[in-house]
Amino acid sequence: TSDNVPQAPEDPMFGLMAAYRRDTVEKKVDLGIGAYRDDNAKPWVLPVVKQADEILRKDPNLNHEYLPIAGLADFTSAAQKLIFGADSPAVKEKRVATYQTISGTGAVHMGGLFLSKFYPRPSDQPIYFSSPTWVNHNQIFSNVGLSSKTYPYFSTKTKGLDFEGMQSALESAPEGSIILLHACAHNPTGVDPTREQWKEIAKVIRARKHFPFFDCAYQGFASGNLENDAWAVRYFVSEGFELCVAQSFAKNFGLYGERAGAFHFVTGPGPDAVNTIGRIFSQLAILQRSEISNPPAYGARIASIVLNDPALFKEWEANLRTMSGRIIDMRKKLRGKLEELNGKDGSWRHITDQIGMFSFTGLTEKQVLKIRGDAHVYMTKNGRISMAGLNTGNVEYTAEAIDKVVRE
Ligand code: LMR
Repeated sequence: TSDNVPQAPEDPMFGLMAAYRRDTVEKKVDLGIGAYRDDNAKPWVLPVVKQADEILRKDPNLNHEYLPIAGLADFTSAAQKLIFGADSPAVKEKRVATYQTISGTGAVHMGGLFLSKFYPRPSDQPIYFSSPTWVNHNQIFSNVGLSSKTYPYFSTKTKGLDFEGMQSALESAPEGSIILLHACAHNPTGVDPTREQWKEIAKVIRARKHFPFFDCAYQGFASGNLENDAWAVRYFVSEGFELCVAQSFAKNFGLYGERAGAFHFVTGPGPDAVNTIGRIFSQLAILQRSEISNPPAYGARIASIVLNDPALFKEWEANLRTMSGRIIDMRKKLRGKLEELNGKDGSWRHITDQIGMFSFTGLTEKQVLKIRGDAHVYMTKNGRISMAGLNTGNVEYTAEAIDKVVRE
């Protein structure tokens, strides 16, 4: 049987990380994986996470028992409030089933698995992703037997949203399609719909009876404000949609390796809503138990301490502003230097227009590989750069490398 196992390609994101680590050239720059770095290119443990860790370590009742199948209750309830809002009618009316998951990936997977089992659809009906989307979406859904198609999203001409293309693709998708949407700070493009555009998207989704599935990995990174970044999800919930949300705490808490996340299924208002959620909750328990039994405790405990303490929550918001503020500063510096080098004001405007952790530079795969080879600047093949990899020490060097390759 082992003869039948073909060699699989290396993961593009983690493969890039490994290639960067192998590179011995000192001036190398890592703009690959979406993980925050400080101005010294070092991982940043959020000060509020350090505080929560101390609180946790002093707890005399701390032990290593299993969490419940659905996870830490204080964490899942706080996760609901964070994404849906403290006053969310859906939360108050108990129309939300929430499971703690293995970060955002686990949450997307749980949603995919649940929908593959229970979402009524023709067997060949695809799920729709933005073009482009996070590289992992494809295989997470194909692993649970859901094929995919894409809707236009990024316009290479304007380097902004191809709203008309997106709208007409959603209109012509088969009725009742599952539509994957990025809640904020779209990965990889850094381009989000405006609120008016979200309202139009909601209209099409309603008219075509589609099912919205939000992936929310960057709450706090788009606008620097947690409430604003949750606006699209909250709008859809307020419109009464049945939907699901995959929520990651990897980026906004810097808890990457601790795998803290949540999956939420929201049903619309109605006399049967609580019963419906009860049934859904019971099925999710089987999926969770058979796959991971129960989720890991540490990251959820840290996030829960912060989310449930008003003073720590404020401090967390300040830490988030430190991260998003430094990224915005790097956007300005990178654009400024690039335009200084080519003498064309506005030619790199998209770098400051785009938001969140990433910028979609418009560089071709060939240019990306050339920059990697010549200047040891690492970015994904689609020309995405993780802005957090830039700092005052390497932003000018990076701009020079980019400027050089686009001239050739
Ligand atoms: C990214 O897109 O860089 C991050 O979401 C990390 C990952 O797992 O791919």
